[in-house]
Formats: sequence, structure tokens, C-alpha cells
Amino acid sequence: MNQEKVIVLDFGGQYNQLIARRVRECNVYCEVHPHYISVEEIRKMNPKGIIFTGGPNSAYLEDSPTCSKEIFEMGIPILGICYGSQLMAHLLGGSVKTAPISEYGKAEVTIESESELFAAVSKNTVCWMSHTDYIETPPQGFHIIGHTSACPVAAMECPKRGLYATQFHPEVMHTAEGQKMLSNFVYRICGCKGDWQMDSFVENTIESISEKVGSGKVLCALSGGVDSSVAAVILAKAVGKQLTCVFVDHGLLRKNEGNEVEAVFGPNGPYNLNFIRVNAQERFYQKLSGVTEPEEKRKIIGEEFIRVFEEEAKKIGAVDFLVQGTIYPDVIESGLGKSATIKSHHNVGGLPDYVDFKEIIEPLRLLFKDEVRQAGRELGIPEYLVSRQPFPGPGLGIRVIGEVTAEKVKMVQDADAIYREEIANAGLDKTVSQYFAALTNMRSVGVMGDERTYDYAVALRAVTTTDFMTAECADIPFEVLQKVMNRIVNEVKGINRVVYDLSSKPPGTIEFE
Ligand code: XMP
Repeated sequence: MNQEKVIVLDFGGQYNQLIARRVRECNVYCEVHPHYISVEEIRKMNPKGIIFTGGPNSAYLEDSPTCSKEIFEMGIPILGICYGSQLMAHLLGGSVKTAPISEYGKAEVTIESESELFAAVSKNTVCWMSHTDYIETPPQGFHIIGHTSACPVAAMECPKRGLYATQFHPEVMHTAEGQKMLSNFVYRICGCKGDWQMDSFVENTIESISEKVGSGKVLCALSGGVDSSVAAVILAKAVGKQLTCVFVDHGLLRKNEGNEVEAVFGPNGPYNLNFIRVNAQERFYQKLSGVTEPEEKRKIIGEEFIRVFEEEAKKIGAVDFLVQGTIYPDVIESGLGKSATIKSHHNVGGLPDYVDFKEIIEPLRLLFKDEVRQAGRELGIPEYLVSRQPFPGPGLGIRVIGEVTAEKVKMVQDADAIYREEIANAGLDKTVSQYFAALTNMRSVGVMGDERTYDYAVALRAVTTTDFMTAECADIPFEVLQKVMNRIVNEVKGINRVVYDLSSKPPGTIEFE
């Protein structure tokens, strides 16, 4: 593949994929590689530029991640960020030390001289700092191009060798002019043309998967969510009938969702693949019968899902590849193994142990959610699938509080469908990040006609969030809520009360269980 690209060398920082994403936003293809890849491998990739990420270590210590000094002699422009800048300084003979004052947060950087990296950047500009070490003196041949009150070398360069470094993080949004700096690096310094688009990613991915799979057999667990749908379509385009998609309907999907998925991927849909729908509703309801504890419900649903999938996989026999719709945020989440389990997230991550396959294919591993949606649109996947809001793996199982029964699932499906319809009618579906109905475990007395009722209360939830780690309750106009309430109590049997959940996250979570 001879496309223009910039590579990011990962030295253990938290923002490595974010850097790649920012470069892709400049229409230059970018991917992340471990810091220890060889100079030979880099040469083969023929990048127009290299970016070193940050990282938690001290560049001058023996065991810290490093790279070959030869990289600096390849004639490829390099931008070092944070640890990456310190490593560049250290390897080229500058001095790096523990800073007398470590900086964390926004800092004003004064730009000191004309630099290509800072073309059209303000003389005083707010940047995001996060460091305990700093560069005390730059290596020979470098000069300082930016400082803060606490950091004498906030940025340095040696333009003759194409080497640039910033102590701050241009990739995070708190650095006001960071995107300008990165685009200066890729355009002005690396000389990129910027002709990459998501369609080239899609095309290249299809091409390379088709090459890799050859005449092999591929299996994909399809949930109907955005990620697995986009992954499945990429595979379908790459290998057609060699792909089998197994869609487990666990009876905990939203109203009509199973049929919608089948309409797209099944025999009457546009893709020529093998599609197996397993209607496993009864099995799941049976397993969940009498169970009320949320974590236990999640575990049962996750395990049963694997059992069903495993049975199907056995029927298919050995396959060569298993497709997973892993996207970049999943990679970070599963990497955070040490943090406390608030909820055990269920997705297909547990499958590999149970299926006879040789290799995993994860075509979306590098992408962020909105990039996945963009890829889905390029692939011509219907908008209602591509722009679908997040839906948890255990589905309505965790939106029916307490014991799950078929009747309760039906109630929450109907209430949720009304809520979604009215949110869309009010034009709020693009601004609210996630919204759904959950069936509370509370029954209360009401009156319908002249009759006493003793029915369930449904809770409406709507949140705005960018990262789903924290969220605010969305400000849904009262008339919309009232309309939803009216329709639900009139149209859904078994519900006589509707409440709106005002909690933010924290202290609440987005889902109820
Ligand atoms: P919470 O409830 O933890 O949810 O605030 C944050 C986001 O994650 C989704 N969620 C899940 N997604 N498997 C998933 O794939 C799960 O088990 C799961 N549980 C919660 C939730 O819908 C929200 O978007």
C-alpha cells in the first residue's frame, strides 16, 4: 500500500491513539506502532513523518522505553511530544532532569521564534502540560522555540534535521491551537498532501483483509450494533460467502431490532454472506428466571451468549478467522485492568477461548466511534444502523430492574419505542447522547377509567456526554416528556406511571444496573 502516512511511536502515553486520530483529521493516514519497532520496519512503511508519544517514564533511566538513535538519521521529520520530546533530547545529548516545578494542566506557552511548527499560532497560547521531568538544555543544533514560566524548553527544534519537540500535548483539546500545530507538522514540515479520506481506509482495509483471508473461512458474531455491523460489512465486501455471521437474538433487544438486523444482513439484504439468526429468547428468559442481582444477571447473559455462540460455531466447524468489532475505546477499557469493576461490561471479548479459529481480525481497532460511523456511511450501511446510540451487550436485561420476564421485556420495549419515536419527532435524537426507557421494579396504585390499577412505573433516562464516563441529565422539554408519558400509559399495558431520571453520572450511572 503506497499511501501517504505518518506513524506514531507509542512510548506508553495515554493519548497515543488520539494523536493518530488528530493526524487523520488532517486527512493524512496515521497509525500507532510500538516504540521498539525496528528501523527496517519503519523504512518499509515509508512514512512521511513520525510522532513520538508521551509516557510515564523518565527518559534518562536505564529501563525506560527507547528507540534506536538511527531513527533520527533517516531523514524523516519527527515530532516528539512530552516523554517523546525528552527522549529526543536525551538521546541526542541534551539534558533531561526532574523539573523543580512539575506542571499539570493548562499553561501559557510563549512562542519564542518563527518556527514552521508554530506558523499562524498566537505568540502566547494555552497548552496542556503534564510532566514531572523536563528538558533542561536542548541537544546541540537545537534551539528553543517556546517556554512557560516553569518550563524553559516547552518546545525546541532543529529544522535542518526535521526534528521538533513539544513538552506540552498538542493533541488534546485543552491545547487551544494544538490542531494547527499538528497540521503544520504534517503539511509544512512533512510535506503531506492530505488526500486521505475514510473511503481510502475502507478500501484499503477491504483489500488487505481479502489478501490475508485468501480462501479461508471467517466467522463473525453480529450484534446489530454499530461496531459489529461495520466490521461485518467490511468482511462481507472482502470475502463474501466465506463469511458467516451469527446473530444471537437473546430476547433482550429493542423493539423490532432483531428483524431490522435480519433485514440488512439476512438473505433478502444487500450483502451476500451466510447469516444465521439464533432465536434464543426462551433460553435466556429461563436462565434469568428468579435472578434479581444486577451483576449476576450480567454474568448469566454473558455466559449464555457464549454458550449459544459456541453451539453455532461447533456446527460450522473449524474456521480460520474470527472477526471482532473491537474499536479503540474498547482497547483502552480492557487495558485499564486495574481499575475497580463498576459494571462488568459484556461484549464478544470472551469468545476466543470457545471457538476453533486461528486468528482474530479486528478491522476497526484503530478507530474512534465517530470514525466507525463515518466508515459505515462510506460502506452504504443504512443510517439507522450507523447512527444508532450505544446499547449495552446485556441489552434490556439491565433495563428491567430486578427479575427479567418476557412480559416485562415487552413492556420496556414498547415504552422505549414510544420514547425514541417522540425524541426523534422533537428533533432531539442528534443532540442527546443516549436515551431509553427502563422498567423500574416498583408497582404503585393508579386509576384508569374508573378502575384501580396496580402497575409498574417506567423511568425515562436521557443524558448528554462526550465520553460516557461522566454524563449530565439532558434537558428534554416538558411537553415532550408529557407527550411520552401520555402515550406510554395509554398504549403500554401494565404501566401506570412514568418518571424522569434527573441524575447525572456520577453519582448515577447511565444504565440502571
Ligand atoms: P454506565 O451504565 O456504566 O454506561 O454509565 C456507560 C455506557 O456503557 C454502556 N454499557 C455497556 N456497553 N456492554 C456494553 O457494550 C455492557 O455491558 C454495558 N453496560 C453499560 C451504557 O449503555 C453507556 O453507553
